[in-house]
Amino acid sequence: MRRLRRTSQIREMVQEHRLDRSDLIWPLFVIDGVNQKQDIASMPGVSRLTVDLAVDAAKKALDLGIPAIALFPKTEDSLKTELGEEAINPNNLICKTVKAVKKACPEIAILCDVALDPYTSHGHDGVLDKTGYVENDRTVEMLVAQSKTLADAGCDIIAPSDMMDGRIGAIRKMLEDNSYHNMLIMAYAAKYASSFYGPFRDAVGAGKKLGGDGKQTYQLNPANSDEAIREIQADIAEGADMVMVKPGMPYLDIIRRCKDELGYPCFAYQVSGEYAMLMAAFEQGWLSEEQTVMEVMMCFKRAGASGILTYFAPYVAARL
Ligand code: PBG
Repeated sequence: MRRLRRTSQIREMVQEHRLDRSDLIWPLFVIDGVNQKQDIASMPGVSRLTVDLAVDAAKKALDLGIPAIALFPKTEDSLKTELGEEAINPNNLICKTVKAVKKACPEIAILCDVALDPYTSHGHDGVLDKTGYVENDRTVEMLVAQSKTLADAGCDIIAPSDMMDGRIGAIRKMLEDNSYHNMLIMAYAAKYASSFYGPFRDAVGAGKKLGGDGKQTYQLNPANSDEAIREIQADIAEGADMVMVKPGMPYLDIIRRCKDELGYPCFAYQVSGEYAMLMAAFEQGWLSEEQTVMEVMMCFKRAGASGILTYFAPYVAARL
């Protein structure tokens, strides 16, 4: 075996997987205002950006060969409500950002998250009934309206991250009815009820008030794998073009099953907690940054991912 590992040329010749800049999707957090950056304590090196700076980041992404960005808003508390109506305001922060980025660099693909958590006063992804349970079908109606708002603003990929039943079919029908025949849907199909989203919830200012079961009544149980496959199958049957597994590193087995059993473009989301964990170790000097980051990215490819949503995207692209 070691003959194939003796020199770097030979190692590269027999290398089974490659990482490319086109594998990367860069998530960005946006805030209202002009020329301002807010650091996120639990995500060193990641900031919330005002629309103008998000446009600069999109240009940077394009220069680095990153094909797509994913946008997440931090909504002012005063705009948050029980039902999350700000999600369907055609002039909300995300719509403004989509328009500004599309104007400045139309070539970059913009992925928009569909879920109500940045907009609800309680921080859940959907609408609550009297008992505090997230109501499926009323939520789906809101998500369809939110998707229409995002499509009208000009995004390229609709990415529902809410885990309601039947939402992909309902969104696809709305898109067909409104002549958005080519709108892509990337479904957060296998999204787990994970502790690794903590820093993200700080970043978008959601989740502090989630009580009880948190998001466990709609996100997947980390103990389950067959159920993830059923979720992914349902989303594909309802009209998803691409699917996602989330979080990333602790769930590589799900990516592999998705790739082997379903053969669909499957993306990994290396989430905020994974980023925070690695950055904390780099800051302590306990892991070497460049080697570790590049290794982790390659592992996603080896597991079968078509691409990776990662806060390290510009860092990785610059090194490829
Ligand atoms: C919202 C959403 C979450 C993430 C992406 N979209 C958080 C959640 O479900 O609570 C997490 C991303 C990350 O942790 O980096 N539905």
